[in-house]
Amino acid sequence: MAEEHKAPDWDAIENWDRRYYLHNTMAAAEHSFTGVERVDGNYITLSSGARLLDFQSQLVSDSLGHRHAAPHDAIKEAMERYGHVFFGMANEYRARAAKLLVEDILGAPASWASRVRFLTSGTEAVENAVQAARLFTGKPLIMTQAHSFHGMASGSTFLRGYRGNLTLQGQQGFSEVRDIPGVPAPGYIPIPPPEPTDFPAEGELPSLVATEQLIRACGPENIAAIITEPMFGAAGLMPHADYYRGLFDLLRRYGILWIDDEVLCGAGRLGKWFGYQLTEGVEPDIMIVGKGINGSSLPSGGMVVNEAIGAFLEGARWWSGSTWDGHPLVCASIVGTLSYMLDNDILATVHARGAYLRDRLEALARKHTVIGRIAGAGLYYAVDLVGSDGRPLVEADRYTNFSGDLSQYPNAIVSGACAEKGVFLGGFVPNTIKCAPPFTISESEIDVAMDAFSYALDRLAKTC
Ligand SMILES: Cc1ncc(COP(=O)(O)O)c(C=O)c1O
Repeated sequence: MAEEHKAPDWDAIENWDRRYYLHNTMAAAEHSFTGVERVDGNYITLSSGARLLDFQSQLVSDSLGHRHAAPHDAIKEAMERYGHVFFGMANEYRARAAKLLVEDILGAPASWASRVRFLTSGTEAVENAVQAARLFTGKPLIMTQAHSFHGMASGSTFLRGYRGNLTLQGQQGFSEVRDIPGVPAPGYIPIPPPEPTDFPAEGELPSLVATEQLIRACGPENIAAIITEPMFGAAGLMPHADYYRGLFDLLRRYGILWIDDEVLCGAGRLGKWFGYQLTEGVEPDIMIVGKGINGSSLPSGGMVVNEAIGAFLEGARWWSGSTWDGHPLVCASIVGTLSYMLDNDILATVHARGAYLRDRLEALARKHTVIGRIAGAGLYYAVDLVGSDGRPLVEADRYTNFSGDLSQYPNAIVSGACAEKGVFLGGFVPNTIKCAPPFTISESEIDVAMDAFSYALDRLAKTC
């Protein structure tokens, strides 16, 4: 019998965490310690004993909830035989995970996809993809959407817009923003986001018109690739339905590769295996995966390449990779997750629960005038919060640089009030709440989350 777990001394844990851990996004002076005792299914149990329904799947990452048997049993089984095997040798799970993703899900050899490399994070996969695109084309420039997010390491962080900058404490609170020296970095060209101008426009989408002008200004002969997100993860933007068709046509016309970053939206999140499939007849040249491919049970990422890029890279000695490429335990967790999703028609579940969630959100919008646009698909909806004039409550909106008193931002007020009601729900940019529960969510749990959200919106309405 497993030994009973003894709760740690949380005072000591908090002390060590505050003293020795190098934290992200919050300064020590404002750091709120949230100890997690355990995670089970759709719930997080805090050291205080409080239990939160995880309506965000952590970072829109834990798609099967917490400690799901599919990845966990696969990891346990793999651990009977494997620890680490370096990339110069093959392991069973690396090949099985590759076959599942490239052949069973993406339809190779009849489809665009030819090969995948598994890496240890989405960031690392993004950086590999950018290198691959530059090496394959021999061109230096990468175009990148404003408001997108592709990771924080020196490389992916230069892909606009949210990046690894720092907000320092000055006389006016956290007001001094220090960007990474070198931003904007040579080699990366920001293109406009597909919002808000595209929606009210008639005829060609303004964001695509501007993108084409930039392509011509930079010279297509200098541009290796454009990197995009199907639905923006950090910013919570869902492009106009014509955006990807138009972008794809532009890229083909000018001979530019398309890197489709599906770290957050892939593996079923938008109700398709991958978000690009929401648009008929388009296909990426390189696709990045991560998060949901193993429910984030272990750190993972991956880069899928098309036939031409696959043949080019396999035909050469490409000095690339890291110690943990194709790690057997990570690959076992991918095999466990993807097999489970295939065997249990996970897309049907995402559609059914997603439709229920969307209805509940629309009902909330009829009650709360602070709700503006609701955008999304599958089990990912971004809810914009607006004032009585219909404008964003915090003016900077998605151009926020995260300075000032963040506790007064609408997303912070909503997440604080939801937590009081036992629900983990919030957002990244000030005016947008991201509803992205695990695929294992039930209708009654959606009801609980929506009641908490409604309570939070009443609280917000009193403050704005
Ligand atoms: C679209 C997108 N790309 C890349 C990344 C970076 O992935 P990771 O955090 O696994 O390094 C993220 C993370 O949130 C993401 O949402």
